[in-house]
Formats: sequence, C-alpha cells, structure tokens
Amino acid sequence: MFAKLTFRSLFLAVLLAMATATPVTPNMVLHELRQTVPAGFSTVGPAAAEATLTLRIALAQNDMAGLENALYDVSTPSSPLYGQHLSKEQVEAYVKPNQNTVSAVNAWLSSNGLTASKSSPAGDWLTVSVPVSKANQLFSADFTVFKHSDTGKETIRTMSYSIPASLKGHIDLVHPTTTFPDPNARLPVISSPSKLQSRSNLARGVVPDSCAFTITPVCLQALYNIPATPATQKSNALGVVGFLDEYAQQADLTKFLTHFRTDMSNLTSFSLQTLDGGINPQAKNMTGLEADLDIQYTVGVATGVPITYISVGDNYQDGDLGGFLDVVDFLLAESNPPQVLSTSYGMSEPLMSQALANNLCNAYMQLSARGTSVIYASGDGGVAGPQDSDCTSFVPTFPAGCPYVTSVGATNGIAPEYGVTFSSGGFSNYWAAPKFQKSIVSKYVKSIGKTYKGLFNTTGRGFPDVAAQGQSIELVTANSYNSVAGTSASAPIFASIVALLNDELIAAGKKPLGWLNPFLYSAKGAASFNDITTGNNPGCNTNGFNATAGWDPVTGLGSPDFAKLKAALGL
Ligand SMILES: *[C@@H]1O[C@H](CO)[C@@H](O)[C@H](O)[C@H]1NC(C)=O
Ligand SMILES: *[C@@H]1O[C@H](CO)[C@@H](O)[C@H](O)[C@H]1NC(C)=O
Ligand SMILES: *[C@@H]1O[C@H](CO)[C@@H](O)[C@H](O)[C@H]1NC(C)=O
Ligand SMILES: *[C@@H]1O[C@H](CO)[C@@H](O)[C@H](O)[C@H]1NC(C)=O
Repeated sequence: MFAKLTFRSLFLAVLLAMATATPVTPNMVLHELRQTVPAGFSTVGPAAAEATLTLRIALAQNDMAGLENALYDVSTPSSPLYGQHLSKEQVEAYVKPNQNTVSAVNAWLSSNGLTASKSSPAGDWLTVSVPVSKANQLFSADFTVFKHSDTGKETIRTMSYSIPASLKGHIDLVHPTTTFPDPNARLPVISSPSKLQSRSNLARGVVPDSCAFTITPVCLQALYNIPATPATQKSNALGVVGFLDEYAQQADLTKFLTHFRTDMSNLTSFSLQTLDGGINPQAKNMTGLEADLDIQYTVGVATGVPITYISVGDNYQDGDLGGFLDVVDFLLAESNPPQVLSTSYGMSEPLMSQALANNLCNAYMQLSARGTSVIYASGDGGVAGPQDSDCTSFVPTFPAGCPYVTSVGATNGIAPEYGVTFSSGGFSNYWAAPKFQKSIVSKYVKSIGKTYKGLFNTTGRGFPDVAAQGQSIELVTANSYNSVAGTSASAPIFASIVALLNDELIAAGKKPLGWLNPFLYSAKGAASFNDITTGNNPGCNTNGFNATAGWDPVTGLGSPDFAKLKAALGL
C-alpha cells in the first residue's frame, strides 16, 4: 500500500521538477528504480531535509571484461598463465575510470558546490556528504524513512533516482539509494543439545565415536582427510571477516583448543585487522557466537596457518552493506591481501539493486585476480534464502550468485553424509551460469523437468559450489560448550582446507589457488569431492531441491577430500 503511494508521489515530483525546469537544471534520466517496498519494510515519511547522507558514487570502470578474461587465464588450470595472479597496479589499470569520466563527474559535483573524496583504491568510488534536500534535487530522488517491522530499525532510502543525461555511461550507480539493508544477518542457528541428532550409520573406526553426536576438528580431519600436522608457510594467510559487533575471544579459543585440539598449543592465537572503527574487545560479556565459531574452525582446522580476524565496525551509514564494500576495498589496498577470505554473512539478492550487486561482484573479481579465494556461506534458509518470511518464488543469496565467490552449503551425517535442510542453494536472477559450471548446472536443471517452473531462474548461476559439515558443530563461547548449526560453520571449514592446500602449494614453490571455481568444476577438481546424493533444502512451502549425483543446488559438487584435492593439484 505504502509502496504504491510513495511511488506515485515520487512520479508526480519528477513531473513537477521537469515542468518547472530552469536552464541550469540538467536533463535527468531515470537510473535505478525499485517497483515496490521490500517485504517487511514500511514507509515512515520523508527524510528530514537537513539530515546528512553519505552517498557513494560508483564511476564506470575501465575494462571489466578485460579483467574477467585475465582472471580466467590465471585461474584455469589448463591455461599457460595459471597462477600468475595480477598485481595491485595491474588490477587497478582495468578498474580505474577513464579521465573523461572523472572530469565529467567532478565538474558536475563542483558546479553544485560539492567536493567528493576518492573512496576506493582504483578511484572508481567517490564519497560525498550532502543534506537530504540536496540529494533529492541532485538525483531527482525522494529520500524517505523506511522502518523494518521485525527490527524496528529505520533506514533512509529512495525508490528511484535519476542522473544528468550527460553523465550516463560515466556514473555506474549511487548508493545507498534503492538497495535495502537485510535485517536477517547471517548468524549461526543454535541447535540445543536436546535437538542433537545421533548420526546413524556412523562408520566406526573411520571417525571417532564422538562424531556421532557433535562435530569437532578431529571429526573433520578424519572425514575429509585433513592433515593435523602444522602448516609451515608464514606468507600464507586466511582472513576471517566479522561484522555486527561480533568479537572473537582468545579465552574461548584457548579452551576450545585445550579440549578439541590436544595436539596443538592452546595458546595458538590469531591476528587482528580493523576497519570502519571495528574493535575486538576481550571482556567475557562481549563474546560473539559467530566470531568464536569462525575463529575456532579456522585456527582449529587450518593447523599452523596464520589467521587474521578482520573486524568491520559500524562507521558507515548505509546498513550492513557498506561493510561488504569496505572490507573488499580495504583488502584491495593491501599489497598482499590474504590468499583466502572466509565470510559467514550474506544477504538476500533481491534486496540489492542489480547495479550495486554487480559492482560488488566486480570487487570480488578484483580480489580474485589478486590471488584471493573468496569464500562465502550459502545461507541458512533453504530455497527461501536468507529471508525467512513468506516467499512466492525462491530467494537467491548474495553474494553466492556472484561467479567470483565460492559458495559453501551445509551437510550433516557421516555415512552417508547428506545435505542439511537449511542449506541454501538455487539460482541467481542477476548472473547467468558462467562457463565454468554451465554444462553441469544445465544438466541438473534438465533433470528436474518442469518441477518448480517459474519459482527459480533456469539459466542463473547455480549455488552452492561445495558443501561441508554444518550441523551440531561443537564450540566454546562465553566460556561454555555449545553446539551450533549453519552454513556459517561450513564456510570456515572449507576455507581452512583451501588455506592448507595453499600452504603445500607455496612450500612446493607453486602459486596459491586464488579464484577456485574453474579448478573446482574441472574434471579433476570435481572428482576430489565426496558427491552427496541425499537431503533436500525446503522453503517457500516446497520441499526444495534434492541432492543428487553430480552437482546440485543443496550441496554443490559435494564435500571436500583434502587428499584427493592435493593429488589433483599435483602435490
Ligand atoms: C592450556 O594448556 C596447559 C597445558 O599445556 C594447561 O595447563 C592449561 O590449563 C590450559 N589452559 C586452559 C585455559 O585450559
Ligand atoms: C561488560 O562488562 C564491562 C565490565 O567488565 C562493562 O563495563 C560493560 O558495560 C559490559 N558490556 C556489556 C555489553 O554488557
Ligand atoms: C534470469 O537470469 C537471467 C540471467 O541468467 C537474467 O537475465 C533474467 O533477467 C533472470 N530472470 C528473472 C525473472 O529474474
Ligand atoms: C525430490 O525427490 C522426491 C523423492 O524422490 C521427488 O518426489 C521429488 O520430485 C524430487 N524433487 C525434485 C525437485 O527433483
């Protein structure tokens, strides 16, 4: 209801602005439009004219198609350039907007009395602070306060905005405008001890008996052939991203290692990087479940690999998403970004404008070209994605649909290992299935015929790419033992395996893996996964997809076998 009203009044405002146009008012063209206010949000009223907005303006990038070609060259095992990752300068040359673009946008800002600051290493993002009244005029926008019914949080967004016609092709997008913050932060779902399921068919002798009840690093080592011997390469790094005031506790990690990695020093630590005012206080009452999980299942699984906790603070004005962009820009500015990055957060793809989703995906492309494996949890809502409200069609997760990230779903059970019901998977509406997965994904789509016709995009990029254990994961948080479930656990587990492979590659004088997908979907790569053929991921009043032989949108290619991956890499 409110959505329609807002849109109508906005449309009227645009018409009025056009009718009263003075010679200095540039000819405006509609740039982005959201048809309806997303479910869960309602309109409170116009944003206060004097409230300050920090707007980020993305400039058209130089040559992303060229960067994509270069990325395929350095990431495809059969390519002569495999492993020859690009330097910071090489990547920036593809991204840096051309001088005409920079001049045109700066001249327009300056004619409006504004000066922008550069806010990304390649200069493709500008930041400018303006009052709402000015922003409404500059972009023919209608900045409005929206409130989310679950969280009560208010946020300022506009349902559409325009740019001067002369800047079309120069401005990629303006943010925050039509992208809404996702109220469902990806946090692990606590499974209480009473709900722990005994794993039937436990292959006795293969994994310790305790793995029938809870998963600990020792179970993962046995199940996925992960070495317990410490990694040796100091130049290797695994970064773990944390948002939303999630703090990783050394005391909890020490207790975890004391009990679950008796072969490791319980003083093993992690380093800290912070941005946007991020902190990592160690007071016992400030522990974070997600942060503890992510740190314990990297330090405790990627034995001996240097781990960095990257704590992203709240010093951005555009909801949770600003942090997503800021952390990539922060790492792109480094001369040696971590070779593996694990993130257990995500959001609902449709809440993002396609232009912003694409720009962020391009940022992951840049990081991938530098040689970083960008790994994300696939989400915990089955085919309903991160969104837990009613859905009339399946909801893809962002950034799982971005081809340059590797998305990790969740499994449970030992023999057989099966896809867990909450494991999000499906098909993006924003990206088509890329060449590395096109044939395997279309084979799956064909196999289900007309089932769910209209509920998902049959040509979209399929996710997750892989899966790992994600149910009844034992951890220590706030000094207590607990057990959690979520793809939030699966992502750091898989990231740890990649970091251990990188350790061996670096030790052998080879290059780290970088963007994983072309290798994972190659015949050798795919054969290094335990194919998972049972389980499904219900949601939106359906039974969801089924795990099947080969790739499927519940468990991807399956769960990793470290020994097979090592052999496939010629180690
Ligand atoms: C860490 O290990 C030492 C033995 O190596 C033990 O004495 C100490 O209690 C452990 N710390 C914790 C917090 O359990
Ligand atoms: C945590 O405890 C400290 C005192 O040790 C207190 O100052 C702080 O307010 C507490 N924080 C929270 C979130 O309870
Ligand atoms: C389906 O995905 C394609 C890209 O593969 C996209 O062009 C199309 O718009 C999507 N359809 C819908 C309904 O979102
Ligand atoms: C999943 O498997 C069940 C049982 O075999 C079958 O009835 C259903 O049609 C399958 N669903 C899909 C989407 O393949």
